[in-house]
Amino acid sequence: MQLDTADKFSPITVALHWIVGLSIIGLLAVGVYMAETETRSLYPLHKSFGFLIFFIVVLRVVWRLRNGWPVPVSQYSSIEQILAKVVHWVLILGTLCMPISGFLMSTMGGHGLEVFGLEVVARNLDPENPAKSIPIHKALASFSHSAHHWLGEAMIVAVILHVAGALKHHLIDRDGTLRRMLGARV
Ligand code: HEM
Ligand code: HEM
Repeated sequence: MQLDTADKFSPITVALHWIVGLSIIGLLAVGVYMAETETRSLYPLHKSFGFLIFFIVVLRVVWRLRNGWPVPVSQYSSIEQILAKVVHWVLILGTLCMPISGFLMSTMGGHGLEVFGLEVVARNLDPENPAKSIPIHKALASFSHSAHHWLGEAMIVAVILHVAGALKHHLIDRDGTLRRMLGARV
């Protein structure tokens, strides 16, 4: 299996980056939209994709640990290198913690979890009013809800900085950073 080198990334690195990256951008956008407009009909779709992406995220983290961090295409200021590292960590930890907090918020809140119609965790129905679900652990559900909200905000900032950085490399520095993540040899 081909590992990353300084001048070319493995096709696995490239595929995992874009599958996870584009899914996360979609989940962040849908998450903010549905929470602000209270569009309940989008919740099952968000929860299903959010749950499934977790397994690809775990694969990606294992692959990153095996491969080590990418070597910069050329020499940059230490500020730029530190900023890139911090942003990469927020993105990696965020991709792990968002599905976990979403899962805990829903299941501990008693709402259960269905993945594209398949029941993974049953709703905790109120015996006196079966149309209503009751929390399993109110404090954990509420903590996870706050975590999902604030981590989501942090991830949005990190994604904006990350994309700005990629564009700066491509358009201003005119180096191969973005092209390498698109699978090219630089
Ligand atoms: C990488 C995966 C995920 C991302 C990036 C993500 C992102 C978001 C964001 C940004 C919000 C808006 C938060 C707010 O403004 O308060 C949100 C809301 C929500 N997410 Fe996720 N989410 C993910 C996975 C999940 C999972 C796995 C579940 C449940 C199993 C879930 C359940 C929800 C629910 C129920 C809301 C609405 C909360 C409310 O009404 O305030 N999410 N998500
Ligand atoms: C259109 C959006 C995006 C573009 C243009 C982009 C571009 C890039 C580029 C060019 C690199 C290589 C950096 C280097 O060589 O040091 C990279 C790495 C990385 N990107 Fe993105 N990215 C995008 C979205 C995302 C998103 C949404 C995430 C969040 C999950 C993400 C997570 C990462 C991580 C963690 C790395 C570090 C290297 C790795 O682990 O593979 N990216 N990205």
